[in-house]
Amino acid sequence: MGVLQNGAFTYHDWDELVLTDVPDELKGQKLLTTIRGRGTESHLIGAFRKTNYPSSAQPDQVMLTWSNDPSTTMDIQWRTDTTVSAGIVNYREKGSSIVYSSDAEKYRMEDLLLMNDRFINRFTAHLSGLKPGTDYEYQILPETEWKEKYTFSTQSATDSFAFVWFGDTHYSPKFGELFNRADSAHPDAAFCTIAGDLVSDGLYRNQWDDLLHFPENVISRKPLMCVPGNHDNRAGLGALMYREFFSYPKNGPDGVNKEQTYSFTYKNALFLMIDATSSVDAQTGWIEEQLKNTNATWKIAVFHFPPYNWEEPYLDIQKAWVPLFDKYHVDMVFGGHIHYYMRSKPMKGGEVVDSYNNGTAYIISIGIPSRTRDAAEEPYAEVVKTEGQYYQCIKIEGDKLTYSAINSNNELADSFTIDKRKN
Ligand SMILES: [Fe+2]
Ligand SMILES: [Fe+2]
Repeated sequence: MGVLQNGAFTYHDWDELVLTDVPDELKGQKLLTTIRGRGTESHLIGAFRKTNYPSSAQPDQVMLTWSNDPSTTMDIQWRTDTTVSAGIVNYREKGSSIVYSSDAEKYRMEDLLLMNDRFINRFTAHLSGLKPGTDYEYQILPETEWKEKYTFSTQSATDSFAFVWFGDTHYSPKFGELFNRADSAHPDAAFCTIAGDLVSDGLYRNQWDDLLHFPENVISRKPLMCVPGNHDNRAGLGALMYREFFSYPKNGPDGVNKEQTYSFTYKNALFLMIDATSSVDAQTGWIEEQLKNTNATWKIAVFHFPPYNWEEPYLDIQKAWVPLFDKYHVDMVFGGHIHYYMRSKPMKGGEVVDSYNNGTAYIISIGIPSRTRDAAEEPYAEVVKTEGQYYQCIKIEGDKLTYSAINSNNELADSFTIDKRKN
């Protein structure tokens, strides 16, 4: 407890932030101090919340992710209310008469301040031993129908694929519309990824309920592979709900919670999925290990804080990770956080170089409508858009990569290609 006066701090983990202009009539009162992550819990108005999508005995929020090899495994996740005590998935090669079954892990999730749905059960079934390059269908018991929205394909042996990437989404219905539109426009995309700030308060389950509701017919067919942003990993309180929601590879570095940082390889591309809200230094060695030990043609890093941006360049990331991106030639780095769109020219050692075959593309995108008024000039930028809402589709065909950013009017907002055969 402190004393309310000018110069007093409110957050123990941010004591440089101090009060100014305290009204005279309040001076000298008791001040309840807290940590940043608990700031919103001291609200008396709006402290208790309701979810728009309470759970029921019927499975919902059905979502695919990978925690293992995309050619032979798939994780299927869903939730129910707490009356359902066990989860089972039936699955088969599309149209086959041989049906397999997998028991799901169950865990109870709690949001203490959620008035209408405090506890839910969540389930994860880890399917393994699947055939590569094969279409599957599944059903979550007690459902016994085979539905088009419960289908997926395992990774095939070719070296062509596409995926869709979003910047910050903040559980906005506008993002939901964009996600569905991206899926209709790119039915061939193998998976989707969001570069953090999926929601605005990572410990408010009602926001996750909104987020997962909007694209429910997409994420039940295509894995959603994300990284946490600062809003998902609440200062001082962590990213527990993020970890509870997503089943990802547990191959991240020590010193960072498992599944917040991980890597996976899809066909000829390595994806470094990094939690930039955790310690930079604790992850540097791991990033080098991943890059050193891959023989992937393409290397893509996804993390929330963009090293280069007009507002708040991340000098620690520029110092620790960028030299590794240079040394092992990471092709593209995707980020968010600063709500605008920016694609850098090819960069190496902090300088602009002649070609993306030689330098890295640092790209920031935003998945919700946004507007930045005072963006400063960025000499390294090839494309800057201070307004609008975008998704990106990246198509890889062997040695060739085609990148497109599409705005909410379905117009091509940015595009470029990288061809590794031409230097
Ligand atoms: Fe954000
Ligand atoms: Fe952010």
